[in-house]
Amino acid sequence: MYQKPNERLKGQTAIVTGGSSGIGKAVCEALAVDGANVVVNYYKDSETADEMVEQFMNDERSGDAIAVQADVSKEEDVKNLFSEAISRFGTVDILVANAGIQIDRKFHEMSLEDWQRVIDVNLTGQFLCAKEAIIEFLRRGIREDVSKALGKIIHMSSVHEIIPWAGHANYAASKGAIVMLMQSLCQEYGPQKLRVNSIAPGAIQTPINKEAWSTPQALDKLNELIPYKRIGQPSDVGSLAVWLASDESDYVNGTTIFIDGGMTCYPGFTENG
Ligand code: NAI
Ligand code: BGC
Repeated sequence: MYQKPNERLKGQTAIVTGGSSGIGKAVCEALAVDGANVVVNYYKDSETADEMVEQFMNDERSGDAIAVQADVSKEEDVKNLFSEAISRFGTVDILVANAGIQIDRKFHEMSLEDWQRVIDVNLTGQFLCAKEAIIEFLRRGIREDVSKALGKIIHMSSVHEIIPWAGHANYAASKGAIVMLMQSLCQEYGPQKLRVNSIAPGAIQTPINKEAWSTPQALDKLNELIPYKRIGQPSDVGSLAVWLASDESDYVNGTTIFIDGGMTCYPGFTENG
């Protein structure tokens, strides 16, 4: 939990998909400490999601919280996630579309199923959630008492929206597509005061990339890719998500913010090229 709470998101409700683990969990914690009501979407881990809700409900800085199960690749589940949130809190102000998976394969060994599942969760999931969020934002209009924007959408992308990734073509393709989804939504709904942006993390220490940090050797190898020479922490991303969801970033729209210790500066070129 953060040490310096304030009230940037007081009175606002945020849905965070894939909220019970890694980056999503840290985003939920950061939003809660800044006063938001948090809807913790989980896929399978109801126990962690319930513990988080209890923790937020007992924290006087936080708004209220609920946990809702949903597979973001299923339209019915996503509709239910939003209707649970709206029936509990009246509306939704912030969506952090964070849920994502990797199914890594050599390309010539990648099955259609390996391809499809990653696209379904990482891209179609973002489509389904953004659509429900925008329907709700348009229905209720701007709430001037809590934010200048009609609503805020934050897509969880990756440095792999621009860095090609051998052995992970399905994942890289899903993240590359998020740029055009996000920017098209910005163009389409900016006039109604929707703010939509992406966060593109580099290597953040979570279960998704455990192999890359669980031994000192792996971590040394990973650090070769990071000018700042440390792996990112989920809380690094949590802080950015709160800022992007708050009016402090009111003029930030239609862009990707990289949070990667410099990974996208290609340190392989330091003494080469
Ligand atoms: P994680 O594995 O800890 O979290 C992924 C979350 O997505 C889990 O809570 C999981 O239950 C959920 N999820 C998976 N399938 C789902 C589905 N069908 N419906 C709903 N939820 C589902 O990994 P991490 O790192 O926290 O990943 C979160 C997001 O951050 C992903 O979109 C990932 O691509 C992205 N990311 C992660 C980076 C990293 O280095 N850890 C770097 C760049 C992006
Ligand atoms: C991937 C991680 C990887 C990071 C940096 C993320 O999108 O999910 O597995 O460590 O990018 O390559």
